[in-house]
Amino acid sequence: MLNSGKSIMDWSERLAQFSEPQWAAKNQLTCTYLTPAHIQTAAELRVLMHEAGFDEVSTDAVGNVVGIYRGAQPDTDTQGSPVQLKTLLTGSHYDTVRTGGKYDGRLGVLIPVACVAELVRQKRRLPFNFEVVGFSEEEGQRFRATFLASGALTGDFDPDWLEQQDTDGVTMRQAMHAAGLPGDMVAINQLKRDPSRYLGFVEAHIEQGPVLCEGGQPLGVVTSINAGVRATCKITGMAAHAGTTPMLMRQDALLAAAEISLMAESRARQDEGSVATVGQMQVPGGSINVIPGECLFTLDMRAPFDAQRDALVNDILAQAQVIAERRQVNFEFTEVMRASAAPSDPLLQQRWERAVQAVGQSVFKLNSGAGHDAMKLHTIMPQAMLFVRGGNRGISHNPLEIISAEDAALATQAFMALLDGFQIDLTNTK
Ligand code: GLV
Ligand code: MN
Ligand code: MN
Repeated sequence: MLNSGKSIMDWSERLAQFSEPQWAAKNQLTCTYLTPAHIQTAAELRVLMHEAGFDEVSTDAVGNVVGIYRGAQPDTDTQGSPVQLKTLLTGSHYDTVRTGGKYDGRLGVLIPVACVAELVRQKRRLPFNFEVVGFSEEEGQRFRATFLASGALTGDFDPDWLEQQDTDGVTMRQAMHAAGLPGDMVAINQLKRDPSRYLGFVEAHIEQGPVLCEGGQPLGVVTSINAGVRATCKITGMAAHAGTTPMLMRQDALLAAAEISLMAESRARQDEGSVATVGQMQVPGGSINVIPGECLFTLDMRAPFDAQRDALVNDILAQAQVIAERRQVNFEFTEVMRASAAPSDPLLQQRWERAVQAVGQSVFKLNSGAGHDAMKLHTIMPQAMLFVRGGNRGISHNPLEIISAEDAALATQAFMALLDGFQIDLTNTK
């Protein structure tokens, strides 16, 4: 076996050298959709896939980097026609949050790339095609179009997104054209995968939480991915003089947003497993001596089950209206993402369990609080995920995110064991 742990650590550094200027200057990683850093990352990923020995490497109409390692020459059926090989789909995203880590998403591309490098070294072909996708967008940073990349594969790309503007007024269509992509729905619609041609979707990912690290477990098998809703919110109050307006005569938009944030926190705490986060808050054009007249903020709400998530969202929305009325401000809520909980396919999950055992580990199961591309693929084909332990108590969406080369190597061996499992089963069913 190649030294996959070292390769993955080296490849992660190669990808992490491309960061947006404001963050690169601080030696931090930010790689959001179709920025120059993102386009360079995609190019480097293509180079890595070519070096590993993929048969086909391309970039699709939404910027996904797609590598295909073709299966063994297909057999013929009883009429002598070639049997169409099925494909196992895998991958994860190569975009990052602002000031992100080097492994969130990318690890799930690099592990299968290491598997292909190993298959090539062994001169081995599988009885199925192996398709590895570096998804161009999962984090919902530059545009409010979270999962647009995996959404394109499931036929879930909203045409309105093309006209959406980033904070500099650049539309997604313009960003696509600048990146040399067609920027039209004809090309994007063609990316939809036909599930009947697939064995399913598997995704490896850094855990992004403390469970594996604290539990001394290098690998975890995911049982389900939590449901989520994201929204952008706007409070409109009345800008007024900070010195002359008595405290009881104010319509302070920022304080209303602050109260809503605290209410969301306490509502989420009432449930087992619910979380609510206000990740961004702005007072556009605010001044030190002006009562905030407008406040923009985001809400991210998640729970293990759709019904629990819906109750959380509905309660937060209702209570936000009550707060807004009491404070005599206007509250607007625009939902920008809704993803259902995604329980793992039992058979695919079992394949990961066997793969983990095959590399000498006990099966440790956990659910995913983070969202993943697998949630999108879940809507059209069976999916299951493998988690890899993060160091630094699992911190993620932070430059402190880290993995060890040993764990990366072990995860690659487990992924190879998963491929072996498919190979044995497909060979036996011939
Ligand atoms: C993706 O990283 C998420 O927000 O869960
Ligand atoms: Mn992330
Ligand atoms: Mn991720």
